[in-house]
Amino acid sequence: MQKVKELLNKYSANQKPFVFVKTYGCQQNVSDSERIKGIFISMGCILTNIKEKADVIVFNTCAIRENAEHRVFGNLGQLKNLKNRNPNLLIIVCGCMTEQEHIGEKIRSIFPFVEVIFGTNFIGNLKDFIFESLRKRSLNLKKSIAENYNNLKLRRDCLSEEIPRQRDNKITAFVPIMYGCDNFCTYCIVPYVRGREVSRSIESIKKEVENLVNLGYKEIILLGQNVNSYGKDLGSSFTEVLREVTKIDGDFWVRFMTSHPKNITKDMIDEIASNEKICKSLHLPFQSGCDKVLYDMNRKYTRKEYLAIIDYAKLKIPDILFTSDVIVGFPSEIYDDFKETLSLVKTVKFSSLFTFIYSKRKGTLAYNMKDNVSCEEKAKWFSELLKLQRSISASIYSSFVDRNLKVLVKESRNKKNFGFAKTNGDLVVNLENYKEEFKGKFCIAKIIGFKERVLRGIVTSF
Ligand code: SAH
Ligand code: SF4
Ligand code: F3S
Repeated sequence: MQKVKELLNKYSANQKPFVFVKTYGCQQNVSDSERIKGIFISMGCILTNIKEKADVIVFNTCAIRENAEHRVFGNLGQLKNLKNRNPNLLIIVCGCMTEQEHIGEKIRSIFPFVEVIFGTNFIGNLKDFIFESLRKRSLNLKKSIAENYNNLKLRRDCLSEEIPRQRDNKITAFVPIMYGCDNFCTYCIVPYVRGREVSRSIESIKKEVENLVNLGYKEIILLGQNVNSYGKDLGSSFTEVLREVTKIDGDFWVRFMTSHPKNITKDMIDEIASNEKICKSLHLPFQSGCDKVLYDMNRKYTRKEYLAIIDYAKLKIPDILFTSDVIVGFPSEIYDDFKETLSLVKTVKFSSLFTFIYSKRKGTLAYNMKDNVSCEEKAKWFSELLKLQRSISASIYSSFVDRNLKVLVKESRNKKNFGFAKTNGDLVVNLENYKEEFKGKFCIAKIIGFKERVLRGIVTSF
């Protein structure tokens, strides 16, 4: 550790090395970056938001869709100038993209100034990688290409419970409860870049949440690619995690994401219904409303089964709000199939939808499936879906106007007296009488209107 510190100091232009970490992709990556930042802080570094000032730049990448990768390649290209200006700059690329062999190769050949590349299960080895790379520099060993440390089979204790986390947010905390995914949906790269499911022990999850609540955190978001398959490897269940975590004393909300419809149990919904600390919102991706497409996607549930879960949840939790992910233009999908997606959206009435146009991922099963629908056609379907969802969201949002809701006030978005809050059902509220003292508190807000997907509210008591 001391040696890594010395080397980092040697190559830094500042008194203490400045580190810039850029995170792409989902909350899992945000959470991984918190550990990466924690490691740098433990080595005496200072985090910066200005990459021009940095001695070390880390890109934590996402591979979920092609455009996510394009963005990273574009941003990596821009680093060339910085590296020319400051040859001591250490550039590190990690995360999901690097777990694909062809991408690792591409980075090494197009961006030779990247010195360390490491995969999603190797955060615990970051210090060693930095040491290795800077030691080679100091010995003047000519080394123009990065080592690529990634091997999902070599699943070196990815749990690495001892790694400190540097959280930016003081109100909301992400707490991973499991890593990886075993589902192999045919369109999805995640199981290939994150490896098999591994669950953390309930004890360590509970300990972390306890600490966070003691530190004053008010919103705990339990994370996993499929949280409700938690515990398969431990003989435990997600409902148990919910029960245990909410036993902790204190005034806080618990949310979780993402749930997979095939693993939802009545038990879990009953727990959400009866447990005050669990927010009444469910992110439940359906991906398609058509059984044929769901089968081809390997989702392992039918439209009917999905709707049965929604009905049961609505029955048990009348004020529940749903959100979802949906893919438009999966190979072999035709307009009649897509119409079933539209009809499912009309039936469920999600408060908001995360909509994606299918993106071909090398290495997945769907990669070789025939895709007869043109991009223009897919774009047309996509806008039809957006238009429908916009009207559904508007009617849900308008139903909250004039109501008094319990909200959790987050950090002010700008310097003026505009702050924002979240409702229990995960809707965003802009508070028109925001005051610094509301921050991090549960307040009652009167909803006075809405604009697109943001409610407008006034805090009436706190
Ligand atoms: N584990 C979560 C989601 C992970 S990825 C789940 O199973 O729900 C987030 C979303 O990205 C997915 O729900 C899916 O809608 C979308 N997605 C994944 N792969 C995609 C691809 N190849 N093309 C387009 N969208 C994709
Ligand atoms: Fe991807 Fe499916 Fe796993 Fe979600 S459940 S991460 S969509 S393979
Ligand atoms: Fe992207 Fe990896 Fe998340 S591929 S969506 S960052 S798990």
